[in-house]
Amino acid sequence: MKVMILGANGQVGTHLVISCAQTTDLEVLALSSSELDIRSHTDVLNSVKSFQPDVIVNAAAYTQVDKAEVEPDLAHAVNAMAIEFIADAANAIDSVIIHISTDYVFDGKNDLSYKEQDLPNPLNVYGKTKWQGERLLLQKANKPILIRTSWVFSDSKNNFVSAMHSLSKTRKELSIVDDQVGAPTYAGHLADAIVSIANKSITNPKFSFGIYHFNGEPFVSWFEFAKTIFEQSERRGLIQKQPKLWPIASEQYPSLAKRPKKACLQTSQFFKSNNSLSRDWRKGLDLVLSAKEKSKHESD
Ligand SMILES: NC(=O)c1ccc[n+]([C@@H]2O[C@H](COP(=O)([O-])OP(=O)(O)OC[C@H]3O[C@@H](n4cnc5c(N)ncnc54)[C@H](OP(=O)(O)O)[C@@H]3O)[C@@H](O)[C@H]2O)c1
Repeated sequence: MKVMILGANGQVGTHLVISCAQTTDLEVLALSSSELDIRSHTDVLNSVKSFQPDVIVNAAAYTQVDKAEVEPDLAHAVNAMAIEFIADAANAIDSVIIHISTDYVFDGKNDLSYKEQDLPNPLNVYGKTKWQGERLLLQKANKPILIRTSWVFSDSKNNFVSAMHSLSKTRKELSIVDDQVGAPTYAGHLADAIVSIANKSITNPKFSFGIYHFNGEPFVSWFEFAKTIFEQSERRGLIQKQPKLWPIASEQYPSLAKRPKKACLQTSQFFKSNNSLSRDWRKGLDLVLSAKEKSKHESD
């Protein structure tokens, strides 16, 4: 099977490359933003026609939730318009396209966790552009797989775990939002899930294209997630001392973008029934902290 990964240097893109390398019989072309800008219809089409992938995985996105409020055109170009270009290119060679979307397409007002068919109602520009991308994918692509996920973390620099580590260097006390609940998702677990569904979409003639949810478990608030990160990091000697944490309400933490209070996704049965896939974010956090510990020892 030939797999083309777009946005290969992001959190999910990086882990997709790793997961693909651990899978036999895959030929992979992984392209970073500097190698292929998905906003160019011509470049996307030419790259796809030249490599002839069976599956295209789009891990490229504009992901800065607050900045999107002041750069809506750029967010729209990457998260919405470009999806039509990729769908076009996939159709031209009859390829499957796997695209990743977010819990932020929902308003978080549901008491229960969101199912695939629930109606989105995004609260911020990022969520709106991602929902536009979803609709373009489902309208235009002949073989679309839309995977919604949430609160992605990895050992890269731009995520909640790294942000907590940086803050602990300068702050003795931290206020963390406690009324937004979600599911942290380890990028490595998500990447394994994507490779498994890619494989199924090619090998199973009865495979159902459409929307799938995949997120970590258990659901927690940002405050609880931060508390676990600091406890584990102190235990491993990655931070000197845990800052004192104070739970606060979203209203006490001013940010440009409004965020959903409880945008918990219900992971699709397809993934739940695959016993080889892990979704426990605490195991993912262990892997991230181990990687950080290893690089700390190497640089000491
Ligand atoms: N992060 C989360 O918490 C989260 C939560 C739910 C869903 N998701 C979704 O999961 C997917 C992967 O997210 P992630 O966390 O891996 O994001 P990420 O780390 O920010 O990676 C996104 C990648 O997209 C690339 N990119 C941006 N604009 C591009 C363009 N015009 N052409 C080609 N590549 C471009 C970026 O490259 P540069 O760095 O060079 O700009 C970056 O490598 C996205 O669809 C995102 O919406 C993420």
